[in-house]
Amino acid sequence: MIPLSAFTVFLGCVSALAAPASQPVTSLSDALVSKVKTNMKQIATHSWEIGTALEALTEFEWPSLSVFGGSLPPPVKLHSGEAADVIQWATQIVKAKDPNALPLIDGDGAVGDPASIGTAVLLTNWTRTDRSDHEFSTAAGHQLKYLLDVAPRTSDGAISHRADQVQLWADFVYMAPPFIAYYGALKGGSGGLSLLKIAYKQCKLYRQYLRDSSGLWQHIVLGIGQDHNHWATGNAWAAAGMLRVLEAIHHSKLASQMKNEQTDLKSWINEIVSASWNHQHSNGTLYNYIDQSTSFADSSSTALLASVTYRMATLTSDNSHIPAANKAYNLIKSSVDSNGWLRNTVDPETFNTPSKPGEHSPEGQAFVILLQSAYRDYHQALASRK
Ligand SMILES: *[C@@H]1O[C@H](CO)[C@@H](O)[C@H](O)[C@H]1NC(C)=O
Ligand SMILES: *[C@@H]1O[C@H](CO)[C@@H](O)[C@H](O)[C@H]1NC(C)=O
Repeated sequence: MIPLSAFTVFLGCVSALAAPASQPVTSLSDALVSKVKTNMKQIATHSWEIGTALEALTEFEWPSLSVFGGSLPPPVKLHSGEAADVIQWATQIVKAKDPNALPLIDGDGAVGDPASIGTAVLLTNWTRTDRSDHEFSTAAGHQLKYLLDVAPRTSDGAISHRADQVQLWADFVYMAPPFIAYYGALKGGSGGLSLLKIAYKQCKLYRQYLRDSSGLWQHIVLGIGQDHNHWATGNAWAAAGMLRVLEAIHHSKLASQMKNEQTDLKSWINEIVSASWNHQHSNGTLYNYIDQSTSFADSSSTALLASVTYRMATLTSDNSHIPAANKAYNLIKSSVDSNGWLRNTVDPETFNTPSKPGEHSPEGQAFVILLQSAYRDYHQALASRK
């Protein structure tokens, strides 16, 4: 018989080799993730919540069609039933669209938020069975036109997140640049290249305005109603948005023409990831205002930032932030109740108070699905590298 102590040491060595990734993490159960997803679909009503939910469904259920999954453009012809829920939801939105408005849906005064639905509309157009139907292409084109030609901007070209004044929000980076980049990756050629460059440029400009010497991003600058705090969800939106732009470039036919841009995006994402996890609390959570000890624990941003961390490790093979992601994953696991609701979220409409008892965060539900997708893909990549 092997003495227990020797056996433990032996096991320790093996797991250190196999997974530089530290403490063991077991997955959320499929049944629970399924409840989280059902709840997400049920409570997503605002434009950005729908856009984020559509992205979460795509990454989770149809990974090969997401920007993380494979080469762009996607196939023209889908298998029967493939992406059916995403296409159905996007179709419903385009059918309900005000024909006289350029944005895809009402955005509650936001420029960027309706564009978050655009990726799913582009996918719907690209894969449609009735090739004579141009409704989706036109709707996506109008949304792009609104962003590029109509929305207010700063003098140096950053597109405002608000329609009625020039104001920049970290949130914008998840809403509009990934749509512009995906549009470019599908279009290809010189027109596609210029769209990919616009998406990159918006990330660059937003970082110039919002990032400060802490390495973290402020939430809202310029105009009336600024928020200079380092809002955790804002930082996670920015990192996750830049990551989708990076992946759209990376998987497009134009990747070799945008090497420096990809290097920049990676370093800007890492900057947020490193600066944020520096303030991670011992149970894995981030605080709502990341670096303020009087703030409160927020599971939403913790989930989204952990998803970015797993995805970056998958992309770069740099596992240095995986221990933080694993801690965060464990926290999220213990924060999802048996009915599939994420607890301990920030109220996504006040930004600075916890969700009221009995209320849930639509974006928080989506972040759990994004996290689960990133966690799964990270472990798949680890297994295939062995
Ligand atoms: C819609 O799909 C067609 C291919 O069927 C493509 O030529 C067109 O560029 C697409 N529209 C957009 C906005 O991507
Ligand atoms: C995690 O720790 C923080 C204090 O650092 C606490 O406020 C929060 O309630 C904890 N979260 C959970 C789910 O235990």
